[in-house]
Formats: sequence, structure tokens, C-alpha cells
Amino acid sequence: MEDHEKGYFAEKDSADVVIGRNKDAKDQRLKEVMTVIIRKLHEAVKEIEPTQKEWLDAIMFLTRTGQMCTDWRQEFILLSDTLGVSMLVDAINHRKPDAASESTVLGPFYVEDAPELPLGTNICLDRKGQDMVISGVVRDTSGRPISNVKLDVWQTNDDGFYDVQQKGLQPDFNLRGVFRTDNTGNYWFRAVKPRFYPIPDDGPVGQLLTKLGRHPYRPAHLHFIISADGFETLTTHIFDPDDPYIDSDAVFGVKKSLLAKFVWMDDPKRAEQLDFGNPFWETKFDFVLAPTRDGGSH
Ligand code: BEZ
Ligand code: FE
Repeated sequence: MEDHEKGYFAEKDSADVVIGRNKDAKDQRLKEVMTVIIRKLHEAVKEIEPTQKEWLDAIMFLTRTGQMCTDWRQEFILLSDTLGVSMLVDAINHRKPDAASESTVLGPFYVEDAPELPLGTNICLDRKGQDMVISGVVRDTSGRPISNVKLDVWQTNDDGFYDVQQKGLQPDFNLRGVFRTDNTGNYWFRAVKPRFYPIPDDGPVGQLLTKLGRHPYRPAHLHFIISADGFETLTTHIFDPDDPYIDSDAVFGVKKSLLAKFVWMDDPKRAEQLDFGNPFWETKFDFVLAPTRDGGSH
């Protein structure tokens, strides 16, 4: 019998000693997950060969990350986001047919129960910022428009803040709304051009980014959760391709297919129809929903 089978520790077999101790685990999935994590963790420690001080620093970093968490702040999710793991888990869980629109991270600023509004509503309640009209069609993977699709939308104002970050300064539900496509699959609403903004960076994750020579910014985007019976729910964004941070999103949320075109429109007549100043911004973006695998809603 090898030493690791007896349960004695040895540097060479360290992972096997620990993994062997889990042999009676009742939850097979947990056992499988912990086997991989223990193996990879021991592998990393063997490659890094940390000093005791470095290992304690790592433990203290995780301790501060936990201590930063409240009902409103989830520092571990920010850690997962900035290490690209949130996007990887999202990709694994949302593999789609090629024709379907791609997903990206939800983020911490989604608020349930935003008001359901008629198409065309201006969701910028304080009218601050540069006016922007957003429109498009939602289709299935065969190109057929889908009616009555729910689009839950949220974005920052032109200073790069969500309403929930500026309670009292911005009206509640500013730049949020729920819309439904009409019987030709079209949606449209009015808002303002969003701005890039930093992810919350006053905690250990922000400090880590600084030490790694990284900035905390996300390029300007609009968030969408798009759902309809018989289709996979799509959580995604559309991005301003001309944003200074478009190639270096702090959370790796940008995908090429999600780049919209933000067009500066000089059209006084249309501006008047839209109750906008002239010029104004326009972006058009079509979405394609994948069918649910089981045929029901998801
Ligand atoms: C967001 O887009 O709202 C977001 C996503 C991940 C981390 C922070 C913010
Ligand atoms: Fe966002």
C-alpha cells in the first residue's frame, strides 16, 4: 500500500492524500468537483511555491473579499467577473446555435419590477444627457420576427451611474423599463447615450486590479434580458464600439457580435418627432433568440 493510500502526507502525493479522504462522500457531484479543485489547487501551489507569508497574504485577501460583502455588495462576484470566470461560466451554460445572439454577464445593477412601458417611451426620466433612440427586431433562428417578446432594459446615465447608485439624485427606475415587441417583432424606446463606468473598485478587487496594472472600467453599454415562451432567455448587452474601453472591459463582457453602431444623427424633423434635441444618437440592433431545448419557456 502506498503512503497516500494510508492517508499519510507526502509532498509528492499531496493531492491524492486529500482526494482519498473524500472517498465516502455521499454527493457524487460534490466529490467530483472537489477532486478537480484539490488537484488543480495543489498543482498551482506546487508551481508557485509560495512563501508562508505569500500564502497568508492570499488568505487575507480572500478574508477581506468576504468582509466586503453585504446585501448590496458582492465582492466575490466582482472577483469572478474580473478573472473572466463569470463570462466562462456564462459561455458554458449558454451554448447556442450560431445564428442566435450571444449572451454576456448580468452584473449587479439589475432591478426586478421595472415598469412595463409602451413602445417608444423615453426611459430617461430626468432628460439629462444626449438623447438616443434604440430600435430593432427580435427574430427566431429561421429569421421569423417574434411578437410579444419581453425586453427588460437598463443602462447608466451620461455620467456612467445607474439609478441605484445615485438614489435621491436620479429618479427611481431612471433608464429602466420593460418593453414588448409588436406583432412585427419590432421594439423601440428612447433613452440617452450611456457612458463607460468603473465597476465598484473601492475594495480588495479594485486593489488587485491596480496592482496588476489594470483599470476598472466597463465600456458604455445597454443591458437587456430578453424572454419569450418557447425560447431561451437571453441576458446580454449592446456596446458602443467607439468607447475608449471597448477592447479592455474590466469583466471581459464584450463579444464582437454585441457591438452596435451608435450613429450621430443630424435630422431636425425626426428630432422634433422624437421630442429630442438635434443632433441625437441612434442605434439599431436586432436580436435572435434560440429555441428552448425542451420546447417550453426558460
Ligand atoms: C454591469 O454591467 O452592470 C456590471 C457587470 C459586472 C460587474 C459590474 C458591473
Ligand atoms: Fe452595466
